[in-house]
Amino acid sequence: MKIEGKRVLVTGGSSGIGRAITAALLGKGARVVISGRRQDALDAAVAELKAKGDVHGVCGDVTETAGRVATLDGALAHLGGLDILVNNAGGVRAGRLEETSEAEIRAMVEVDLVAPILLTRAALPALRASGEGLIADITSAIALIGMPFYATYAATKAGLARFDEALRRELVGEGVGVLTIYPGATDTPMMRTSRAGAEVGFTKEPAEAVADAVVVAIEGDGFEVVRGGEARAQMIALNRTDPIALDRRFADLKPALAEAVRDHSAL
Ligand SMILES: NC(=O)c1ccc[n+]([C@@H]2O[C@H](COP(=O)([O-])OP(=O)(O)OC[C@H]3O[C@@H](n4cnc5c(N)ncnc54)[C@H](OP(=O)(O)O)[C@@H]3O)[C@@H](O)[C@H]2O)c1
Repeated sequence: MKIEGKRVLVTGGSSGIGRAITAALLGKGARVVISGRRQDALDAAVAELKAKGDVHGVCGDVTETAGRVATLDGALAHLGGLDILVNNAGGVRAGRLEETSEAEIRAMVEVDLVAPILLTRAALPALRASGEGLIADITSAIALIGMPFYATYAATKAGLARFDEALRRELVGEGVGVLTIYPGATDTPMMRTSRAGAEVGFTKEPAEAVADAVVVAIEGDGFEVVRGGEARAQMIALNRTDPIALDRRFADLKPALAEAVRDHSAL
């Protein structure tokens, strides 16, 4: 797909990966609406990104019906239609399951799974009208390899990835594609409360690297972007052929990992 002139909505485009994707798409000549809950963060992002092209902010919480309606209507009003929906807004709370509150579990399910499904459903008529529509969902490498202390987050991201696979097949031949993105650890505000580093498998890459790979996938009509390089690809393969080997690897890492991610919270 040619990106130039495409009308794009990036949820959570005011920060991190969403902001980097927005910058990359603007650089390719797309027109982009970004969303988020905090007006001040949106204003700051728009002020910085507008040097790159046509960008507009819409304030709304995608976990609420009114917020999704405001987000989508705001995007359609500004752009006059929609070609690409990037479901990027997300949140995480790490830690042992029994130490994670019901409210935190529900918050992850709402923002990481329910919201992208419902926003996609609402956006589909506009994406079909585009004639060349695309849904791009930001899941996580944790969707492919379940990581201890991220059980609920893994469930939501794996759920979204399988949703994408099913929807891609549902929409095949109908002018709307589905692209699933699996970032590894990425250096964004979401990771500020995590102390996990390379020693426990969290080697962070810049958000711009994820964004550049997303652009390549959009331009090449790809269906997935898996970050993490060859080492991650080998781990994903091993998780399919010999998952018990990974259980052993995680068992060794468990004490260090538990400590490093204990306070990881961005909801
Ligand atoms: N960073 C990583 O290592 C990593 C790895 C794999 C996957 N991911 C995924 O990548 C996506 C982006 O994460 P990030 O690291 O870029 O995080 P981030 O820097 O914290 O950005 C999150 C963005 O989402 C918005 N947002 C959060 N909850 C929202 C809600 N309920 N309604 C609307 N907007 C909301 C935030 O704005 P407000 O706070 O103003 O709402 C912000 O713009 C997420 O889906 C995350 O799960 C991240």
